[in-house]
Amino acid sequence: MNNLEALAAWISAESKGHKFQLPQSHPQEKRMYDMGKRAFHYRAGPMDFACATCHGQTDIRIRLQDLPDLRSNPGDGIGFAAWPAYRVSSGQMWSMQHRLNDCYRQQRFPYPGYASDVTIALGVYMGVNAQGAVAAAPAIKR
Ligand code: HEC
Repeated sequence: MNNLEALAAWISAESKGHKFQLPQSHPQEKRMYDMGKRAFHYRAGPMDFACATCHGQTDIRIRLQDLPDLRSNPGDGIGFAAWPAYRVSSGQMWSMQHRLNDCYRQQRFPYPGYASDVTIALGVYMGVNAQGAVAAAPAIKR
């Protein structure tokens, strides 16, 4: 685990049990949300996938794993509010950045730059959509 992931796990643990309530009053906060929404629905690559292809409806799964609908709660409460998480399948603590890399891979996109604007924007989009969900990080995931 690198230092950034350790820091993200510690800081998020300080918010454990609190409800998500991301502000949207500043124009830059709104801008990031809009950018995240666009990135979430942006289809491209060899399969023409967007995040929304796998996370834009309820009750779908892939390889027996439930895919949360990340456009709103409760999907974001399960899928966003529980990261960073310890992944049993890889035996590692993963930050949301790490999780996004793996989803970009599944989307057949290149990895986004670490902490680049698009990753922050997606975090704002999912975080705002998680309104009211209880922060559960650090959690344990498959
Ligand atoms: C091809 C399908 C696919 C695409 C496209 C995809 N994902 Fe995922 N996503 C998955 C799978 C599979 C998992 C893991 C579910 C599990 O392990 O239970 C996952 C998990 C996640 C999680 C954690 C969910 C949880 O329950 O903890 C988040 C957050 C997430 N994806 C966000 C995104 C974002 C943002 C994008 C677009 C950049 C994206 N995903 C694109 C398939 C996809």
